Amino acid sequence: MYSLVVNGKTETCETNKKLMDFLREDLGLTGTKDGCNQGSCGACSVLINGRVSKACLFFLEKLEGKEVVTVEGLSQHQKDVYAYAFAQTGAVQCGYCIPGIVISAQGLINKKPDPSEEDARKAIRGNICRCTGYAKIVEAILLAAKIFREELSIPEEESTGKLGVDFKRVDAVEKTLGTGIYVDDVTVEGMLHASALRTEYPRAKVLSIDVSEALKHPDCEAVLTADDVPGNNKIGHLEFISDWDVMIRVGDITRYVGDSVALVVSKNKESLNEIKELVKVEYEELTPLTTIEEALAEGAPLIHEKGNILSHEHLVRGNADEKLAASKYVVTQHYSVPINEHAFMEPECAIAMPEGEDGILLYSAGQSIYDEQREVARMLGVEKDQIHVQSKLVGGGFGGKEDMSVQHHASLAAWCLKKPVKVLLTRQESLMVHPKRHGMEMDFTTGCDEEGNLTAMKAVIYSDTGAYASLGGPVLQRACTHAAGPYKYQDIDVEGFAVYTNNPPAGAFRGFGVCQTAFAIESNINMLAKKVGITPWEIRYKNAVEHGDSLPNGQLVSKNAALKETLLAVKDAYDHAEVAGISCFFKNSGIGVGLPDVGRCIVSVENGKIHVRTSAACIGQGMATVAIQVACETLNLPPEMIIAEAPDTRRTPNSGTTTASRQSLFTGEAIRRAAVQLRYELDMGRALNDLEGQEFYGEYSAVTDPLINDKTNPVSHAGYGYAAEVAILDEKGKVEKFVAAYDMGQVVNPKSAEGQIEGGIVMGMGYALTEKFAMDQSYVKAKYATLGLLNATQVPPIETILVQAKEIHDGLAYGIKGVGELATIPTAPALAGAYYALDGKLRPTLPMEDTFYQKKKK
Ligand code: FES
Repeated sequence: MYSLVVNGKTETCETNKKLMDFLREDLGLTGTKDGCNQGSCGACSVLINGRVSKACLFFLEKLEGKEVVTVEGLSQHQKDVYAYAFAQTGAVQCGYCIPGIVISAQGLINKKPDPSEEDARKAIRGNICRCTGYAKIVEAILLAAKIFREELSIPEEESTGKLGVDFKRVDAVEKTLGTGIYVDDVTVEGMLHASALRTEYPRAKVLSIDVSEALKHPDCEAVLTADDVPGNNKIGHLEFISDWDVMIRVGDITRYVGDSVALVVSKNKESLNEIKELVKVEYEELTPLTTIEEALAEGAPLIHEKGNILSHEHLVRGNADEKLAASKYVVTQHYSVPINEHAFMEPECAIAMPEGEDGILLYSAGQSIYDEQREVARMLGVEKDQIHVQSKLVGGGFGGKEDMSVQHHASLAAWCLKKPVKVLLTRQESLMVHPKRHGMEMDFTTGCDEEGNLTAMKAVIYSDTGAYASLGGPVLQRACTHAAGPYKYQDIDVEGFAVYTNNPPAGAFRGFGVCQTAFAIESNINMLAKKVGITPWEIRYKNAVEHGDSLPNGQLVSKNAALKETLLAVKDAYDHAEVAGISCFFKNSGIGVGLPDVGRCIVSVENGKIHVRTSAACIGQGMATVAIQVACETLNLPPEMIIAEAPDTRRTPNSGTTTASRQSLFTGEAIRRAAVQLRYELDMGRALNDLEGQEFYGEYSAVTDPLINDKTNPVSHAGYGYAAEVAILDEKGKVEKFVAAYDMGQVVNPKSAEGQIEGGIVMGMGYALTEKFAMDQSYVKAKYATLGLLNATQVPPIETILVQAKEIHDGLAYGIKGVGELATIPTAPALAGAYYALDGKLRPTLPMEDTFYQKKKK
């Protein structure tokens, strides 16, 4: 028997388990989050005898008689102060890291009531936050300390909730105090646990699967294989390329180390591994295709029947060869960028359970409940409306939760066993299984005239799309469509290939292919500026598009574009820095290129309140807050009157995936359209009571042109956001500061916008300088601790300037454009430019070598 004091109460346990499991599972203290279970992320931070400690690192035998405080154990006053400080400063996004950070803050403030910024940063250096960039978290800690120290009262919030005004995120308090519910925080009565047995080899023929010994384990409820899948054994985010096996059948060949061969279902989470070890699988090991070159080599085995090329793009406008031949200056360079991991803080988790006679209720945390519904229904061979999906809070996604990872397995087990089943990935499985940012090999040629006016560009891009299609085709397409940059030249020739390998699949990741090609084109432009004898700022300003110009894809630049304004906003910082690099770039809002892209919303009046109902997922960016602010703006009503509902296929209409920075614009416009109808009724003098039970439907569908078209000025996307970033280095090459100007159209919530930009820049800085996803021969060697994620002490100050065109209202969603993806794109090229300015050496690979952060390989 083990005994300890938790939040002031003596608790006992019969078994020697991890403190984290005891807190979460036995005591239901789910404010302590499981982020990595390896002591690396800090999400499970608690106080043990007053010391900040990671609950996943302590077994109960070491805690006899000790006092443990979790976020739930803080006093009410402490809770009120932290909730206020974190909400007020905009420090909360997905929220998964925040309760652990609150504990680290309390540990600091207990010892040092008047901490400095440096103290705060040091206190949380063991807490990774993948969303915020830390600046606002540090601000929140200092504000909380000040309130405690000076015994200040907590101000009441007063906000109209309208667009552009400060308004606290609606989910900030629950996320700060650990009361918000993520899927793994849920326990359902009679719930079983399931886990996939993964292949031993990235490429191997499965010769046999013997589950007989596993079934004898007393905890084992079932071991499912591909033969138990009642519908289609293939899933895939894009319906027309569903090439991803739910499980690999006997006789089939595995494609990567994340492939499942069996699904073990147990009464207890603890015995899952034991049971998995009893499943005997015979393989014939085959040589994996570990690189693009190997996959394209003559005679290479085919990973999929149709061949090893998933997709091919060739965008041609004008005559690039002719223009390059006539250009005064031309540069050609090869660039190589690696696979990169999302490292969202919440590992994937889903719970499925029987609902009604023949249905499934699925608790999920993905990026689109309707995609999950479609894929699960297809796998089970049932109608879509038999699958009821509800989203819980999502602890970060960044694109990495667009594909099925756990939802299908939980649903399959619940369907077969008619019992509730939870599937939770360990952090190691998460690293192994979900799609990554594409590694790319790129050859870029760019030309300009003697004054630095860009003339033409050519590029050939190969992306490593890994084992399955995921979103590899659209990512390649977006890499190609943005490869020329936001500049006014029209002669381009961009060819791209997405190549299957036996590496983990690559798919959506913030930036969607554009981080890679932006790095290449922007670096080429720096070389051209040097040849011409002008500064990197000047060459960009000279070529930057403005209203009335055409982008390289032919799309006319709209009147709400402010690229040149972003460049002007950072000019001073660039001019006055000793060593600085600059990048400006653009990113589409919405899927575009002629594909269906619809935002939908129902605004209903229920119990005297206005409900905004849309399936648009909040993956940390604050969609519920956006929904409320758009509704407040349209209805001219206070935010207390409005409730934004969580995504639920029975309540909220399909507003598509949270991807392509589309939700603020697409769902925002759908909300506006629905709310306008309610506003009309109110303006006609009808009281809200009279409208009880009424629903108002809004929909916005963008009309865009297909990628291949014969129009002079096609509309490729509904809109574009623009940004310019300056990266400033000190003499040792350490990043001293970023100055970033962003044109995201109408700003919905200034603090959220700044927080997203700061988080995006820090993510971009990691991509450029420190992050590595270690692999060897297609085996994943990366660990959470070795990913190279930046902590709070490694992040420089970031000055954010929000810029708008004179006229921002283009008729849609009040001119909102979204910023989620854009915020990660210009950082790596700005840093590359800064190092180029520092020593004249171009660094064409990521993470960049020979910097303050990575020494050159010998
Ligand atoms: Fe910190 Fe999302 S808010 S990880």
